[in-house]
Amino acid sequence: MADSVEIVAAGSAHAPVLAALHALAFADAALSGPAWDAGAFASLLSTPGVEAFILLVDGTPLALSLWRHVLDEGELLTIGTDPAAQGRGLGTALLRQGLAHLAAAGVTRCFLEVAVTNTAAINLYASCGFTNAGRRRGYYQHAGKSIDAHVMVTDGELGRII
Ligand SMILES: CC(C)(COP(=O)(O)OP(=O)(O)OC[C@H]1O[C@@H](n2cnc3c(N)ncnc32)[C@H](O)[C@@H]1OP(=O)(O)O)[C@@H](O)C(=O)NCCC(=O)NCCS
Repeated sequence: MADSVEIVAAGSAHAPVLAALHALAFADAALSGPAWDAGAFASLLSTPGVEAFILLVDGTPLALSLWRHVLDEGELLTIGTDPAAQGRGLGTALLRQGLAHLAAAGVTRCFLEVAVTNTAAINLYASCGFTNAGRRRGYYQHAGKSIDAHVMVTDGELGRII
């Protein structure tokens, strides 16, 4: 039987699940700095314009995304897939669903930051219509080193690239 894939909106009651997924996906802290705990997710989700989604396969949570939008501008705050489930298209599904959700809410452009060393994420974003819009020097700090971030932005009207 084919896997059943479901994407659900997450509320503050899901903060522990979001934190657990984030810790799994970001076990390599060089990708984003330290993982966010349940308190951090609960606090973020109480901020206006912040929304999270969880992707489940056969009822098991395997990926998360976190977004913020203000008026017509959106930002992807984080996205991650359980390493055991990476490379199966889940990140793409979650990214496209989030962009579609933002477009339906009136967002026309979406930004994100990604470590310049994070090839998997950069490839994912490029495959979903993001292009490079700049570089933030020393954006991530890890183990005494600073890592630059690319700023990426959706190219053209959000509704057209989904
Ligand atoms: C980035 C991430 C979310 C991708 O999730 P995923 O579920 O593996 O994504 P998908 O299977 O949909 O892959 C989508 C695309 O990403 C790219 N990609 C994924 N894994 C890759 C890898 N190991 N190396 C290079 N590119 C990769 C590919 O372009 C892939 O498309 P393709 O399969 O058509 O080649 C996942 O690698 C992850 O959780 N990384 C750790 C957390 C992280 O860095 N998040 C982003 C922070 S800005």
